Amino acid sequence: MEYTFPVTRTTHPKPRPQDETKLGFAKYFTDHMFVMDYDEGQGWHDGRVVPHEPFLIEPACAVLHYSQCMFEGMKAYRNPQGGVQLFRPDMNIARMKRTNERMCIPELPGDIFLAAVKAVIQEDIDWVPSAPGTALYIRPFIFGDEVSFSVLPAKHYKFMIILSPTGSYYAANDGGLSTTRIYVQDEYIRAARGGTGFAKCGGNYGGGMRASLDAMKYNCKDVLWLDAAENKYVEEIGTSNAFFRIDDEVITAPLDSGTILPGITRNSVIQLLKRWGIKVSERKLSIDEIVEASKNGKLQEVFASGTAAVISPIGWLCVKGEDVPVGDTKVGPVAQKLYDNLYGMQTGTVEDYMGWIYKL
Ligand code: COI
Repeated sequence: MEYTFPVTRTTHPKPRPQDETKLGFAKYFTDHMFVMDYDEGQGWHDGRVVPHEPFLIEPACAVLHYSQCMFEGMKAYRNPQGGVQLFRPDMNIARMKRTNERMCIPELPGDIFLAAVKAVIQEDIDWVPSAPGTALYIRPFIFGDEVSFSVLPAKHYKFMIILSPTGSYYAANDGGLSTTRIYVQDEYIRAARGGTGFAKCGGNYGGGMRASLDAMKYNCKDVLWLDAAENKYVEEIGTSNAFFRIDDEVITAPLDSGTILPGITRNSVIQLLKRWGIKVSERKLSIDEIVEASKNGKLQEVFASGTAAVISPIGWLCVKGEDVPVGDTKVGPVAQKLYDNLYGMQTGTVEDYMGWIYKL
């Protein structure tokens, strides 16, 4: 089914950031946003593109108290021909469905989701940046906006999409790879079996902020979580999934515990490594094994993967306050090759040999 949505254009277009090499992450927002309502009995209705501006919310709105909400993260890229393209939007739709199911948010049909993404990007297409390392970050989100203090799913929801021209999440400058330091968190936990770890819901991130702040005290950019049951096995990083290259095997945490976010970049990394004949395993990996590998010179690379993080190499893990160096602490060859191929396909400078690109 084809969907078209009415557009109300802003009367006050904003100046676009001039220097695309200093966009940072989600510091600027475009002129328009998408909004759609859900009412019990009526379903999703009244999708529309409107000016991006603050909106009123009732203080008793349930989401402000109980966090019944979800979000997705995706990007639109400028290709060398000047066109704009998405990366694996079907994966965002599939993950949204799983998150909604877990959070008791009504199902939003995938074709409405994609039509809405396309409609709002179309309005702000000139905002898609083209400088190396940049993209238009797309943030779809849904929240229960019923006025209610019952700890029960809302009967009204809003689905919105906002857009932000964006550079690198972690690196000091957009456009190139550099290594960061990550703090291994052994006090707080992110997710336990049966919880919401696999879902992209706000609470997972709000609950992690204490640990991220603590990490910054150690000059670390973010936190690497350990499992809740034994505080022993690596899970994921605050914003992204984590990969470890030890003795030529690339290892990432398995999804079966339900505590790991099934990242679209994570899935793409696994597929690329398999295609290139690099050994890749989804298995439990203890922090002790990693520290030992660093001591023995076998810890070759660690990197984060995510839509915002893309591929972010890690040069040091901070374990109980001590630095554990990764390889020579510089950007490793596997991380660099992954970045070049993924970002190259996303921006159309590398052939889409995996069939992952969706042209707008
Ligand atoms: C993304 O990578 O799109 C995310 O949603 C991570 C975010 C917490 C920065």
